[in-house]
Formats: sequence, C-alpha cells, structure tokens
Amino acid sequence: MTPICMFDEISDPGSKAIRHDDQSLFAVRWRDQVYLYRNRCPHRGIELQWQPDQFLDDSQSLIQCATHGALFLIESGECVSGPCAGDKLESVACSVAEGTVYLEE
Ligand code: FES
Repeated sequence: MTPICMFDEISDPGSKAIRHDDQSLFAVRWRDQVYLYRNRCPHRGIELQWQPDQFLDDSQSLIQCATHGALFLIESGECVSGPCAGDKLESVACSVAEGTVYLEE
C-alpha cells in the first residue's frame, strides 16, 4: 500500500488531483468516504478537471468532465449524462487508515 494523501486534505464533498509515479489520478471525498479514479475521461481519454483539484459539478454531488460536461456518479464512476453515457471512469483501489489515504497495489 502506498500513502497518497491525508484524508483531511480533501474537503467533504471535495476532490484532489493525485500524481503517483507517472499516473494521473484523482480522489473524491463524499459522505465520509474516499473514491479514487484514473484521471482519464472515457470520451476522449483526456484529464477531467476544470481547475486544479476541481472534479465535481456545481452541486458537488457528481464528477464532471470539463471538456464536454459528462457527469459521473461519485460512488461507481458510471457516466450518467454526456457523450460517454453508460461508460465508466476507471476506479483504483484505495483505503483509509489512521487519517491517511492509501493506494492499494
Ligand atoms: S472529453 Fe470528457 S466529456 Fe468529452
């Protein structure tokens, strides 16, 4: 397991970009859980954020791609609106222990 950030670094709800080796990932904290995804939109294969560390929509309840506005469920990464509807973000296993978020490898 690799520590990637502190749990309290992410507001609830909120999101944070994570660089791990050469991988671009992002973490979303929502309802006291953390979800980790590869930072790659299934539509065009590009990064999702519209500002540094900003991956959520205005309602702070969905992940939003900045380029064409696709919306994804935070819990599953499923695209529920936009050009890649029905597709999914690639989730990455993570866990939280003693205030630290770990990438499970
Ligand atoms: S690149 Fe994400 S919706 Fe088009």
